[in-house]
Amino acid sequence: MTEPVAGFSKFSKEEKIQWLSNLYLNNDSEAVKVLKQYWNEDEKLQQLHDEFTENTISNFYLPFGLAPNFLINGNLLAIPMAIEESSVIAAASKAAKFWGSRGGFKATVLNTKKVGQVHFIYNGDFRKFESFFKELKPRLLDAVKPITKNMEKRGGGVLEIELKDKTAALENYYQLHCNFDTRDSMGANFINSCLEKFAEMLQNEAQNYADFTAEEKDIEILMSILSNYVPECLVRAEVSCPLDELSDSPELDGQEFADKFLRAIRIAEIEKYRAVTHNKGIMNGVDAVVLATGNDFRAVEAGIHAYASKDGQYTSLTHASVENEIFKFWIEIPLALGTVGGLTSLHPLVKLALQILQKPSAEDLMKIVAVAGLAQNFGAVKSLITTGIQQGHMKMHLMNILNQQQATPQEKETIIDYFRKNTVSHNSVIDQLEKLRQQ
Ligand code: MEV
Repeated sequence: MTEPVAGFSKFSKEEKIQWLSNLYLNNDSEAVKVLKQYWNEDEKLQQLHDEFTENTISNFYLPFGLAPNFLINGNLLAIPMAIEESSVIAAASKAAKFWGSRGGFKATVLNTKKVGQVHFIYNGDFRKFESFFKELKPRLLDAVKPITKNMEKRGGGVLEIELKDKTAALENYYQLHCNFDTRDSMGANFINSCLEKFAEMLQNEAQNYADFTAEEKDIEILMSILSNYVPECLVRAEVSCPLDELSDSPELDGQEFADKFLRAIRIAEIEKYRAVTHNKGIMNGVDAVVLATGNDFRAVEAGIHAYASKDGQYTSLTHASVENEIFKFWIEIPLALGTVGGLTSLHPLVKLALQILQKPSAEDLMKIVAVAGLAQNFGAVKSLITTGIQQGHMKMHLMNILNQQQATPQEKETIIDYFRKNTVSHNSVIDQLEKLRQQ
């Protein structure tokens, strides 16, 4: 058993690695080499990355790829995606090309309200509290003026503060439920700062409120924190085309493709096991763009999955219909994103991703991310109901095996050609490569 380490965060980077190597890596110099191999030669750039978080000892790379040909509301964009999974960028690019020649994607932001809450305990008469809150509310808004001044200049700010009685669910539990407009910033710091000020005011002013008894004056603030559930920060993206333009496969006509596609979507709407995987495919697209643009993918994931079960059962985030011979496919998701603040002006690749996307506003980015999710889902479901997804996956898998085996470009060409007509498995690729090498 090793002893817990004290003051680890104060160690230098070298000391941290030394400590790790001694205790957990058996002083394996190769392992330490791996860590250092990912350091950036540019010391300033490395220091920037070190300081994004705590106890940094190396960098963790993800591929940064590009899915071109996305026609969104008439603008042709190339979408940067940060993702390690094979086939995702290929599927997005394919779907973009498919819909690009069928009118492209239409996306609309439905609303942009963000949410934060002060959770507190009040032991007393609720009607008295309501009167207290009515008097307090304008002063709460005044008290955050130093924080909201700049946001208001940009057209945002605090939209509403509502008092909520939650005592039916938990004894003496109340909330200030607040709505914010944070314009182009994700707004987490702004929202949390406002909430903490509201909480402080609430607690202090209650002490001075003449109508409260001593017990009522004693408000216990539990938490002041934004919510990652933003069902009123919604974006919708859709594609549509006449049925007779829908199929690009010789085996299915448009009507047959639509029948299969609609049934697949229906299954994801009604069946939880399928819904989760279906939505996971959507998140392949969503997360990759969210990550490339320096946004918080955990927040986005949590909020979107909660939204997928807003009516009591977890269901598909995409829907499809055929009306008057027109096939329509759409997605509606909540997205709290920022294109200013946070990592957006700090991380060089994030800055570049936003430059590639033509410096979008947060609303533009919401549309782009929703489109990436929809495109990804279209690609996945299209593969599933036609060829199956293994065909595409195995192609990438084949490439991964060949790279692992350090195949030369010549060897790759021969083996890829061989597997056009043969089934890929790890063993079959190794066998084939060995045969080739023996020749
Ligand atoms: C794999 O990452 C995503 C899929 O499973 C999504 C789906 O099944 O719709 C292909």
